[in-house]
Amino acid sequence: MTLPIVPPFQAIALSRRAHQLQSAGRSVLHMQFGQPSAGAPQAALAAARSAMSGGQMGYWSSDSLRARLARHYAETYGLEIDPARIILVGGASAGLTLAFSLLFPQGSSVALTRPGYGPYRNGLAALRLVAQEIPSGPEVGFQLTAAALAATEPTPAGVILASPANPTGTMVTREELAAIAAICCGRGIQLISDEIYHGLSYGPKAHCALEVDPDAIVVNSFSKYYCMPGWRLGWLVVPERLADLFDAAAGNLFLTPAALSQHAALAAMDAQEELDGHLVTYAANRRTLIRGLEAVGITRIAPPDGAFYIYADVGHLTQDSMAFCLQLLEDMGLAIAPGIDFDPDHGKQTIRFSFAVSEAQCTDAVSRFHQWLQAR
Ligand SMILES: Cc1ncc(COP(=O)(O)O)c(C=O)c1O
Repeated sequence: MTLPIVPPFQAIALSRRAHQLQSAGRSVLHMQFGQPSAGAPQAALAAARSAMSGGQMGYWSSDSLRARLARHYAETYGLEIDPARIILVGGASAGLTLAFSLLFPQGSSVALTRPGYGPYRNGLAALRLVAQEIPSGPEVGFQLTAAALAATEPTPAGVILASPANPTGTMVTREELAAIAAICCGRGIQLISDEIYHGLSYGPKAHCALEVDPDAIVVNSFSKYYCMPGWRLGWLVVPERLADLFDAAAGNLFLTPAALSQHAALAAMDAQEELDGHLVTYAANRRTLIRGLEAVGITRIAPPDGAFYIYADVGHLTQDSMAFCLQLLEDMGLAIAPGIDFDPDHGKQTIRFSFAVSEAQCTDAVSRFHQWLQAR
């Protein structure tokens, strides 16, 4: 049997080196992963401590958390969601794995934009599915458009969309989302909406795909807005007709998500004031980075509407983004992600900064980057 070819996530190799340097005593700024440097909200930590002392740590899938998430959909998007449609999983990654493997027969194609989150493409390959890439440029904010999806041939079995997106932070409008949903409905394409960066926008709020497509599969997690990436907890919202299937598959494949994380996440959902405070920091970092990059002539970026990324074209400086990022790390202790993780082709000349760090760290990063470019 032929084994699938699964390219590695390059930022992981770079991060390993960053940690080696740090262990050797170097000062390293970590902007390589989409990982908030602020930890879980205080209330989440308190709930976790209390759960540990209470010994409630068996296999468990929290009804209270599902009900709280359903309330979140009502309050945030005006959507009424039956908690039975919410499937708790070990992060958006597990949710994507479940959705890809259940919805699409082996060998089918799933459309996605290039650039896009690398593990979509590589994860599809691991599951013996085919990533049908839709090249997307700065003129459309590197986003999926209804027109591009309508023109995609042959008709893919599914399409995955993230708004705000990784690596660009750009968003689609509600009108475009509705137009995309209409194309999906007309062509029989299953829409998967990765809403992991919801709650993190610098202008208009993001819209849930369920506002325009009741049949969409929604993926989300506690890793980004809630600052709990290592707690490995996420969820899916699936149509009622698929709820039993997803629930049974999740139970068989994963049993339950981590009990400790579920206790903490329930408390995190009421920590909005603390969490919105991080958004103020990210907004300041966004400005600092955009200005800092402009000052050194890096202007080919799509200003992010949300998330915490800047994806920049540095084609005038390198044709090998991995070597560029590794050298920057060795010389200045600044870790950023090479564009090849998001676009194997054009990504050779792009880089991605994650600005989910403190304002002081962001200013330090800009200064190290400037010094490095001047010395080159
Ligand atoms: C767009 C997108 N989807 C999914 C994930 C995976 O998130 P999780 O930590 O919830 O597995 C990430 C992580 O960076 C992401 O950027």
